[in-house]
Amino acid sequence: MKESIYNTDSKFSYKKINIELNNFLKIYNNRPIKNNVGGCQINHAFALYCILKKIKPKLVIESGVYKGQTTWLIEKTLPKAKLICIDIDLSQRKYISKKAQYSNIDFKFHDFSKIPVNTLVFFDDHINHLNRLKEANFFGIKNIILEDNYNYKSGDFQTIKQLFENHKFIHSESYFSYLKTLFIFLIVIIKKNILNKYNAYEDIDKINNRIRDYSFHKGYSNNIKKKISVYFEFPPLIKLKMKTKKPLFKKIHVNLNKFLNELKFYNYITFIKLK
Ligand SMILES: C[S@@+](CC[C@H](N)C(=O)[O-])C[C@H]1O[C@@H](n2cnc3c(N)ncnc32)[C@H](O)[C@@H]1O
Repeated sequence: MKESIYNTDSKFSYKKINIELNNFLKIYNNRPIKNNVGGCQINHAFALYCILKKIKPKLVIESGVYKGQTTWLIEKTLPKAKLICIDIDLSQRKYISKKAQYSNIDFKFHDFSKIPVNTLVFFDDHINHLNRLKEANFFGIKNIILEDNYNYKSGDFQTIKQLFENHKFIHSESYFSYLKTLFIFLIVIIKKNILNKYNAYEDIDKINNRIRDYSFHKGYSNNIKKKISVYFEFPPLIKLKMKTKKPLFKKIHVNLNKFLNELKFYNYITFIKLK
């Protein structure tokens, strides 16, 4: 597995990314949602921008729209690319793109049989990364961005980083949430009993996404590693308390001063290229 999308032999990576920062900020300063808590903050927005610029996909599929900040950023970064935006709850959108095709159906249920070869999928939906990688592989999508690639100490679902750390995710939820899950499950069982034509598959999928425990056996991650040609955790802009790759700046760049609140958010956003 290569660890960068850039040519790491020349010292380029960091230098070139620094130049990109000014271009990025010209866009980001005009973002429609100034307070995007619960969505991408500046470290990840910049990573998304750089990866899109580097890969130049003809089609971007976004799974996890929320208020629409990243939809807007994708549009501004790649004005010519087509855009499919998926969220099971599209009512949260504050920015609605005129050109994106929106869907509230889960990524795995779509017809992606006629998409361009260099399609890129941006997963920011907090769904098990292993499942998402398998689905992308099934659709023949090679370029993948995993927005929240949490380490074993954090997160609310199984990530690829946790898998490489041999960490099996155990989901802890509130008492109320478990009750709600039980209620949803009860409805499924009642419907199964009284409706002959009721197909429970999609409802059970929703239950699966509510209780997100995951398990695997020794050596399982080798199957995933075998399919990956590039695994690139995009570095944060500045040094953070957590262990990360070398940050892009030693000191806070003067243009970043107004983003001090956002700069502390970083969850190892990762680009993956499948073989
Ligand atoms: C972290 S937010 C996305 C933030 C957005 N990308 C941004 O930074 O502006 C996660 C979103 O995933 C959505 N979501 C949850 N399950 C999903 C699924 N199965 N498919 C697509 N979206 C899903 C949630 O409704 C929520 O809006």
